Amino acid sequence: MDIKLIRDKFAEHFATEGELYTSPGRINLIGEHTDYNGGFVFPGAIDKAMVAEIKPNGTEKIRAYSVDLQDYAEFGLNEEDKPAASWACYIFGVAREILKRGGVVKGFDTAFAGDVPLGAGMSSSAALESTYAFALNHIFNEDKIDKFELARIGQSTEHNYCGVKCGIMDQFASVFGKKGNLMRLDCLSMDFEYFPFDPEKFGYRLVLLDSVVKHELVGSPYNRRRESCERVAAMLGQETLRGATMEKLDAIKDNISDEDYMRARYVIGEEKRVLDVCAALEAGDLETVGERMYQTHWGMSKDYEVSCEELDLLATIAKECGVTGSRIMGGGFGGCTINLVKSGLYDAFIATAKEKFCAAYGHEPKVYDVVISDGASKLEI
Ligand code: GLA
Repeated sequence: MDIKLIRDKFAEHFATEGELYTSPGRINLIGEHTDYNGGFVFPGAIDKAMVAEIKPNGTEKIRAYSVDLQDYAEFGLNEEDKPAASWACYIFGVAREILKRGGVVKGFDTAFAGDVPLGAGMSSSAALESTYAFALNHIFNEDKIDKFELARIGQSTEHNYCGVKCGIMDQFASVFGKKGNLMRLDCLSMDFEYFPFDPEKFGYRLVLLDSVVKHELVGSPYNRRRESCERVAAMLGQETLRGATMEKLDAIKDNISDEDYMRARYVIGEEKRVLDVCAALEAGDLETVGERMYQTHWGMSKDYEVSCEELDLLATIAKECGVTGSRIMGGGFGGCTINLVKSGLYDAFIATAKEKFCAAYGHEPKVYDVVISDGASKLEI
């Protein structure tokens, strides 16, 4: 990450110096589309993050510069001041959500950049929201807003200002991330547990293959998946799909659409798979972890229908190469696969995936080695 560039741009635009804050993207080993269903997720923060330089400016306006997009926006702090640029809505939304909760936000100048790939399923937007939620809490609220609420502020920003009815996983992971640890979060109770995660100790590596197919979650298929689940939960007389079983689902099969049935079938399976994976990890049984990952992939592809042919191909190539586990990661509709691969197979897998993917689509997937890292923080430099 080029922090000097952020500092230079900040100085260029605002002729002063601010403080630096950062928050990371995330991976998720398993537990996809379970968060808004009151289920479990198993994410970890990564070494790719957003960084923002910020300084109060004594006005009631936010003046923001996106270094990556080379775009500038200026907007007020009232509900009617929503900026036109979608990137600026994340900053505006976080400020608004803090104010709505009775917190303090005053005008500030900011420049930001990041190395979380956009649209790759690593939650660049949550990284951005968490950076500003953390920073504005520190600058204007004496760190009084607790970390759960910081995550909820990011989530509400997505709901109310960006059009995605997301769950809590991404913002939670970005705020609570801990180096070398995954986190199993119960999205109903918000209880969570850190799980030390060091696949290399067992002779494995975790790698992401980015199809570079972009997904668009806004206003979209993502929200429709959520609505399907909510309809089924309501039919079952439950708040969420948490704790639903296949028996219960089969009992109402004739009263729901085939599509809603498939969506719920996936979610019910996924809730169990997260718990299986956590137990397998504790037992050092990475083969079971991998098996569940493939099951998730094909569940997301066939039942939840959020995969695409590029990602199905990557999962298929992984299987052919003897990779232990591979699956689409994140919301879907493009992005990455996450792969658990024996260290000895790594080089051959990457070479084959590049070659076969390129033969099919004319470009290679991007390769990201996963490093599990810390969550939101102030950068001391
Ligand atoms: C997106 C959402 C999350 C979660 C995942 C799917 O990343 O932001 O809340 O629902 O999709 O697991």
